[in-house]
Amino acid sequence: MENQKKKILCVGLVCLDIINVVEKYPEEDTDSRCLSQRWQRGGNASNSCTVLSSLGASCSFMGSLSAGPVADFIVADFTHRAIDVSAVIWQVKGQTPCACCVVCPSTGSRTVVLSDMNLPDVTAADFSKVELDQFKWIHWEGRNAEEQVKMIERVAKYNSTLPQHQRITVSVEIEKTREPLYQLFPLGDVVFVSKDVARHFGFESAEAAVRGFYSRVKAGAVLICAWAEKGADALGPDDVIIHSDSFPPETLVDTLGAGDTFNAAVIYTLSNGGSLQDALTFGCRVAGRKCGFHGYDSIREHFEDELKPLN
Ligand code: ADP
Ligand code: FRU
Repeated sequence: MENQKKKILCVGLVCLDIINVVEKYPEEDTDSRCLSQRWQRGGNASNSCTVLSSLGASCSFMGSLSAGPVADFIVADFTHRAIDVSAVIWQVKGQTPCACCVVCPSTGSRTVVLSDMNLPDVTAADFSKVELDQFKWIHWEGRNAEEQVKMIERVAKYNSTLPQHQRITVSVEIEKTREPLYQLFPLGDVVFVSKDVARHFGFESAEAAVRGFYSRVKAGAVLICAWAEKGADALGPDDVIIHSDSFPPETLVDTLGAGDTFNAAVIYTLSNGGSLQDALTFGCRVAGRKCGFHGYDSIREHFEDELKPLN
């Protein structure tokens, strides 16, 4: 198959988000009413699939689920959005993760309490059954890093047998401040590092973060750091800092999943041959737009016309 026509695979978390939209973030030990409440499929890799699919990219999700009503809800939503779930691992032990989310439009905050307790993660053995030749890009949300390292090694081995234009591009997201995740830095062609991790290392801007972490990535890789309303910066092998300002919506409504949206729009652009500057700018535009609406449904209608020629 021609590489351009192949799919994008995102590996990571899927969970149920129970989202409470509140006027004001509640005081502890009070009993208040929310403005609205909804169920939404969540998890970083799962959200990035939602956005990729809304932008018109063919994509697949790989992560764990446990059969039951929550998984039924999740699979129905994946299916509704034309996201392939054939790589999902149905675990026999454990429960599908669930997050209680509080979204506060007046401040733009999103607070998440996730129960991600006992469902085993996808392993390298699971990943070994995935047919790699259907994919042009595989994105890993950093989670069980030891296993993910082995999965990425499999892709590296596969790539080494192929000419450049048929290879799979590997991206990784290092979002949480957990030491084992840092072993993913040298493994991505594209590496997303979060503001949280950057701050943890004492970097106070996206530019400082990409400069400071760049020695950890492999030769030729691109390192990207998003910084909420400050936009995002990236650094590639040519040593030039690329920046995009953010595109704040008229009214801030829902920042839950802004980072996942940004990652998806960046991957979308780069996987279609766009430049790093185009990717950052598009990432910030789509993520900014998303912050102006609840959920992800507005993305398709807003960007459909400009993307038609590409898809
Ligand atoms: P998250 O906390 O969800 O990981 P980030 O804070 O890293 O997300 O933001 C990702 C991108 O989303 C930013 O680069 C920016 O483009 C957009 N974004 C996030 N918050 C805002 C905001 N308040 N105003 C405008 N854009 C935002
Ligand atoms: C947003 C998100 C939510 C989920 C939480 C898990 O980035 O993926 O959908 O509840 O983060 O940490």
